[in-house]
Amino acid sequence: MPSPGEGLLTTDLDVALDRLRAGGLVAIPTETVYGLAADADQPAAVARIFEVKGRPRDHPLIVHVAGLDALDGWVDEVSEPARTLGSTCWPGPLTMLLRRGPRTHDGVTGGRPTVGVRAPGHPLAHDLLVRFGGGLAAPSANRFGKVSPTTAEHVLHDLAHHLEPGRDAILDGGASSVGVESTIVDLTVTPPEVLRAGAIDASEIGRLLASSIGDASGPSRASGMLEAHYEPECLVVPSETIDEARRRVADAAAAGRRAELLDRTDDLVVAARSLYADLRDADARGLDELVVVLPPATGIGLAIRDRITKAAAGGARRRDSSRGG
Ligand code: TXA
Ligand code: MG
Repeated sequence: MPSPGEGLLTTDLDVALDRLRAGGLVAIPTETVYGLAADADQPAAVARIFEVKGRPRDHPLIVHVAGLDALDGWVDEVSEPARTLGSTCWPGPLTMLLRRGPRTHDGVTGGRPTVGVRAPGHPLAHDLLVRFGGGLAAPSANRFGKVSPTTAEHVLHDLAHHLEPGRDAILDGGASSVGVESTIVDLTVTPPEVLRAGAIDASEIGRLLASSIGDASGPSRASGMLEAHYEPECLVVPSETIDEARRRVADAAAAGRRAELLDRTDDLVVAARSLYADLRDADARGLDELVVVLPPATGIGLAIRDRITKAAAGGARRRDSSRGG
């Protein structure tokens, strides 16, 4: 019997291009996380992304392009700040929110007047976009609310039963190097606001734009950025210090729960790169609790703290409701 997902994995750009042009879905490697891509010009293909992810229709998608020159029609205007950030941070882990252009349809933005655009830096994604020419609408390639994928195997694990060999594909480009989703900066407001923390932090954006930057990340006003997100099966327990974390692991063990400690605060680049694989691994090993030491709240540490806090929120909610709370 063929295993689920057989015939989905490929390293062949031509296969990926054929599937996308024919209106199929292709999971693409990016430096942040894997995305589930469709031709942004094909509303039916874009609509299928929501079905496969199990994601509400009104959550907007990012349009991925090869670079600044490929933004024509997707955005209303490439403003001066967009040009500055695009020319310094692209291709790379930055999404810019701009007013949408006529080519961006409602299925992509959930009817919003703005659109998120990003040129990913992963060489395979970049080559794909250069050859594709158009825009690829893509959210992270996980089921809605779950942990994002940073390898092709993660995508296969999550979506094999929802994708169709021969129609869709998973383009294997190895493990994502950054490991957390792109920074989202809203350039439609003054001063610009960071809606989601990522590898490029607000201070760097402020320096590049010579402007102050508002911080709207955390419990965010950006639709679709729910407080509980990136949610594994096990309970994630954030801890500010290693001593606190050790106490929590001991307490859990005393109560008969399988708990482990995760401390990658010595290298935050590795911490970000490994975070989602660490969460998935905790589930694969059947842990009840993963006690995670939080990094300092600067640079990419902010993005890591944000994802850990959101991964923790869902488990805490589930635990409370199972207690009847
Ligand atoms: O790194 C990334 O950004 C990855 C890779 C695949 O590029 N993509 C990604 O997409 O994380 P997604 O859909 O999982 O997260 C994008 C977030 C969502 O919370 C969405 O609601 C928000 O960006 N977003 C997208 N367009 C928006 C818009 N026009 N206005 C407000 N929020 C928007
Ligand atoms: Mg996502």
